Amino acid sequence: MSSLLSAQTEDFIDWWQHAVFYQIYPRSFKDSNGDGIGDLQGVISKLPYLAETGITATWLSPIFQSPMVDFGYDVSDYKSIQTEYGTMADFEQLVNTATSLGIKIILDFVPNHTSDKHEWFIKSAARDPLYDNFYVWADGKLDNQGVRQPPNNWQSVFYGSAWQWHEQRGQYYLHQFAKEQPDLNFRNPAVVRAMDDVLLFWLNKGVAGFRIDALNHLFEDETLPDEPLSGKTTDPLSYDYTKHIYTKDLPEVLSMVQHWRQLLDDYTAKHSEGATRIMMTEAYADLQVLMDYYEDAGGVRGSQLPFNFHFITDVSGDSDARDFVYNIEKWLIYMPRGHTANWVMGNHDKPRVATRFGPASVDAMNMLLLTLPGVAVTYNGEELGMQDYDEISWEDTVDPPARIAGKLDYKKVSRDPERTPFQWSNATNAGFSTAAKTWLPVNPNYLVLNLEAQKQAVKSHYKVYKSLIELRKLPVLRRGRFSIEPLSRTVFAFKRTLKDYDTLVTIINVSAKEQLVNLTDFINRPQKLVVEVAGVDSVYAPGDSSFLANNRSDKPQLRLAPRAGLVLSYEQSGMSKQRRLLVKQIIKSFNVVLVALLMYNLWRHKWTKVNFN
Ligand code: GLC
Repeated sequence: MSSLLSAQTEDFIDWWQHAVFYQIYPRSFKDSNGDGIGDLQGVISKLPYLAETGITATWLSPIFQSPMVDFGYDVSDYKSIQTEYGTMADFEQLVNTATSLGIKIILDFVPNHTSDKHEWFIKSAARDPLYDNFYVWADGKLDNQGVRQPPNNWQSVFYGSAWQWHEQRGQYYLHQFAKEQPDLNFRNPAVVRAMDDVLLFWLNKGVAGFRIDALNHLFEDETLPDEPLSGKTTDPLSYDYTKHIYTKDLPEVLSMVQHWRQLLDDYTAKHSEGATRIMMTEAYADLQVLMDYYEDAGGVRGSQLPFNFHFITDVSGDSDARDFVYNIEKWLIYMPRGHTANWVMGNHDKPRVATRFGPASVDAMNMLLLTLPGVAVTYNGEELGMQDYDEISWEDTVDPPARIAGKLDYKKVSRDPERTPFQWSNATNAGFSTAAKTWLPVNPNYLVLNLEAQKQAVKSHYKVYKSLIELRKLPVLRRGRFSIEPLSRTVFAFKRTLKDYDTLVTIINVSAKEQLVNLTDFINRPQKLVVEVAGVDSVYAPGDSSFLANNRSDKPQLRLAPRAGLVLSYEQSGMSKQRRLLVKQIIKSFNVVLVALLMYNLWRHKWTKVNFN
């Protein structure tokens, strides 16, 4: 099975279409003032690191004023910076420094809900006429005993009823997440306008776009019907108890995506001195829904990058080669023509790569991420293969769904393990902070697993990651065609090809055993295979082509360590680009000589005629 992706011409590649987006979780990235919490000056101090690594753009989890119930995803003022993170001047400095280093800044836009401390909510609760309908308010129901109950059976993603009684207003309000995160009412045009204003505010500060949070939760059925039971659990308070047909993925969401796209496009058109402003959207949704975000059946465009979470949600350490191939193909087959694929390998809500696939998979997963066609999205720390810290005590646990789950069950849902501080070095607190206590504990493995050690080591995950980004500059990775196949149950490979350039091949062993791979079926008469990037456990090193030594025929047998990958290149037609260019040059010169001779002969003939007749 193979699929071809139409090769794009260089002219059509906009800045974001082959970008590496790096997600920074600001609270855990770098603390500059010793309070145990990451901040904007910390991010600024590490921008040169991102530039040196080759990152195109960074998207920052929320940095706005917030009571931090959901660590910034509960915004109390969309237009000011969280005090513990810094000031607006710091933010402006961040944009300027990033711009001077060639890095673009993307902000997290949280439209579904605000904090219950937001001025809009306080005014809405007080029935201020201007804000009365800013949120989703509803009367409750009385049960048989005359006791007040929520209007329906909707549950919060974080467990328990999605409705909270508000004494002052005398009504329930909807919260799809924590009760301190009331849902905005996007059916109210004033809310849409207020949020547009937020987008324009940050665009004017020079951001290149937005990551849109919890997008598919934006609208609910106005008649508030009970949702049908899913049959997945008997716990009526669990989010899994019902099928979310009235609270998620309503068609109105698509209209909002298209509305924001228009706003961004208009802004780009008016400020053509800047780059295309883009959106990347967060929705764990069906493939068809995500594809409509790109472009609906009527050709209306929406999100440039509807996040593709398949490497997070649809494959794991137990998946075989066919599962990977199937998931990769799935996205490319459904994606409307002319759009850009994206691959998200991790984020602050899901276990890290080393934890999901096993630490031995780190390099292979980065090879996959960075050699597939389109956009790569890396969560901070994945370039080092950071691991979840699963031993965080109940006392140190801060993530709201984990606190709600309680002491016995918190580990099943906590997102704290993947949010621990970035491991810069083996200094105190991994070089993250000089505080006596950091907001989340540092993973004790920082003593061996840290950036500084990986920069010094001969081989390291970071070095592999960096060399992959370097390799991405090749035209064949920027716009080459793509085809993929499972070579067995345990190994899959894909090719990137482009006329006049060497072909690149990525091979991944997803099993826990070493595999010997014969590539003859996959590669048509390879004259010479060369290793471009090898993982830390590989027997090969970049530049090697020694595996051909035992094989005088063109039957290269590769050794792939457990869960390892390899990126190879080979000359497409047995002739290197340089050699092809030389031959072309010779032919060209030969033609020139031929034409000159012809002209000379003609001229001589004519001259002869003139003189002797
Ligand atoms: C998104 C965020 C997550 C947050 C939730 C509610 O899914 O990624 O961290 O808890 O929205 O805002």
